[in-house]
Amino acid sequence: MPRKLFVTTALPYANGNFHIGHIMEYIQADIWVRFQKMQRSEDGSPVDVNFVCADDAHGAPIMIAAEKAGKTPQQFVAEIAAGRKPYLDGFHIAFDNWHSTDAPENHDLARQIYRDLKAAGLIDTRTIDQFFDPEKTMFLPDRYIKGQCPKCGAKDQFGDNCEVCGAVYAPTDLIGPYSTLSGATPVLKSSEHFFFILSDPRCVEFLEQWVGGLDTDGKPRLQLEVANKVREWFSVRENADGSRSEGLGDWDISRDAPYFGIEIPDAPGKYFYVWLDAPVGYLASLKNLLDRRCIEAGEDGLSFTEYMADPELEQIHFIGKDIVTFHTLFWPAMLHFSGRKAPNKVFVHGFLTVNNGEKMSKSRGTGLDPLKYLSLGMNPEWLRYYLAAKLNAKNEDIDFNADDFLARVNSDLVGKFVNIASRAIKFLPEGKLVASDFDAHSALTSKSLLALVKDFYDSREYAKGLREVMLFADQVNARFDAAAPWKLVKESKAALAAEKSSEALQMFRVITACLKPVLPALAEQVEVLLKCAPLDWINAADSLPEGHLVGAYHHLMQRVDPKQLDALFEPPAQPERSQAAPEMIANGDRQPSPPPSPGGRGSEPGGEPIAPTITIDDFAKIDLRIALIVNCEAVDGSTKLLRLTLDAGEGTDPQGGPILRNVFSGIASAYQPADLIGKHTVMVANLAPRKMKFGLSEGMVLAASHGDEKATPGIYLLEPWPGARPGMRVR
Ligand code: 2FM
Ligand code: ZN
Repeated sequence: MPRKLFVTTALPYANGNFHIGHIMEYIQADIWVRFQKMQRSEDGSPVDVNFVCADDAHGAPIMIAAEKAGKTPQQFVAEIAAGRKPYLDGFHIAFDNWHSTDAPENHDLARQIYRDLKAAGLIDTRTIDQFFDPEKTMFLPDRYIKGQCPKCGAKDQFGDNCEVCGAVYAPTDLIGPYSTLSGATPVLKSSEHFFFILSDPRCVEFLEQWVGGLDTDGKPRLQLEVANKVREWFSVRENADGSRSEGLGDWDISRDAPYFGIEIPDAPGKYFYVWLDAPVGYLASLKNLLDRRCIEAGEDGLSFTEYMADPELEQIHFIGKDIVTFHTLFWPAMLHFSGRKAPNKVFVHGFLTVNNGEKMSKSRGTGLDPLKYLSLGMNPEWLRYYLAAKLNAKNEDIDFNADDFLARVNSDLVGKFVNIASRAIKFLPEGKLVASDFDAHSALTSKSLLALVKDFYDSREYAKGLREVMLFADQVNARFDAAAPWKLVKESKAALAAEKSSEALQMFRVITACLKPVLPALAEQVEVLLKCAPLDWINAADSLPEGHLVGAYHHLMQRVDPKQLDALFEPPAQPERSQAAPEMIANGDRQPSPPPSPGGRGSEPGGEPIAPTITIDDFAKIDLRIALIVNCEAVDGSTKLLRLTLDAGEGTDPQGGPILRNVFSGIASAYQPADLIGKHTVMVANLAPRKMKFGLSEGMVLAASHGDEKATPGIYLLEPWPGARPGMRVR
């Protein structure tokens, strides 16, 4: 049976942009999913994987943040959602769907699960006393109450524990409590709350079996260290110090209005606590994806209900170690007692620290800014590789260390991996592979390497898997060095040089397959270079045939430049105004007018403000070249795109024809293809190739348009003055 996988990462709160901790989790899961998508079951059918995530939209903090920003919570979370794409695309994180816990699917599913739990007799109501802010007219979550520590007297301590003496207490114990929202003195007020009765013996019995059990594949459902910790939470026992652990308490699942969330059925003014509907968002995102596919496929679509009912379906959650309780107690119990299948596996990872620095906490994502990383032109696959080379199946913390990053990426990816292709391709006769047999001479054959690495990926032991791949690359390099094809050529032994180079290139392809889950874009470039079918775990084991023509080598990956790392960790520059002020005061200008600053000119030329200042070095990173449009055609299935074939003066291929680039450009509304053929334009020549629905785009042409394209339509392709030739750099 082909494997069926439903994979998720934790849903991020929709109250801020991603930090590097989010990106690490997504990369870990994305690698696992890409690896699974490269597998085939015995009958050759592909593994069926759905990889989804969503914004965790609800809760008091988001409601309060929206109010402060003068927006409705819906507007607020929509704006956060709109900022997700550059991170996900930038780091090649390929979710099949991104949704929101405020979407209708989640409202319906959460309410249905609640009704089912109620029918199972596991919902109860109780009246509890809670602090209420009389000015804001709302109940206050603990984090919005401060006061004096009842033990040491320290001022301005939070409602649950003292940061000075470490005492733990209830908000009602604080001396002189106040609401951090309004400053008012909170009053105690009683209210009816809904509880999930986790203390019910059925829950304890189920969780004991679920936590310690094996999954359908015979492997433990939880990592050992996680299972041990979880058991401590629900076991009733006498502790060594004589105290008693009472096991699972009931879980308060409701909050009173005003609250941004899902209203509880038949309970006006009562909302689900955000952690009740958040994991339901996994299902809602999947449902949204399957429903859309169903509509596209018509009758043949598989409904969400059918999909979830398949006993072969494996439901897998990647999460961080801070949210284990929710995923290993509440969530499995919610699913099981509402008549649904509990998760198959919960994979827990540790935190990421940066340069041995502070933990990447949810609220303070300091250290390594993911968008800054991308904007510095740093290759996202460096980070994917570096993190993968450190990740294992335990929930241990890992550290991003700048020096280690530079050394590891430059040595492994450039020195050991892409170097093979750059050194070997040039010895092929007319760019064609000749017969060779690496495996006959190697202790570890390419097939055994694929099998070994497969197990490591599947069990999330990425560091171990990549170590094996690099050891294999060492062997390939060593055999190539020992054969020294460059000498063989001089000794008129070109045939032997071709054989040794073919051998190295065949193994380069196997290594590429092993690295493809981590380096998807680079692998795609290699597939283009080697002119081979998209690599998967099955076809990688078969060598390319003798006589197979490969492309001309082009640079596959730059080295990490230490200057990039310096820039990455450089603290943000002071705003220009405050830098300029002392000088103006020294000049005796008592009423300085604000210095001009990009974005601060008050006008928006072309419909958008000028972007932040960059240095000449930043600009130099963009390699702009004159290109001749040798062909241009409409793209079947797209009303926006034209397919351009460009000659950027990059020489000739082994057959003597010009090296050409395929570039898709969204200019179909402005030009007839025939009008562009024979014209020159400007192309970004060092943009990473991008796989689009219609093929690979190997660059970008430059065109002007207004920031508000609806109000001021028009797209204008750049054309140089006569005399500019293909390949000339624009600077
Ligand atoms: O801790 C968090 O960031 C939560 N937003 C995670 C939710 S995961 C799932 F349950 F939705
Ligand atoms: Zn104290």
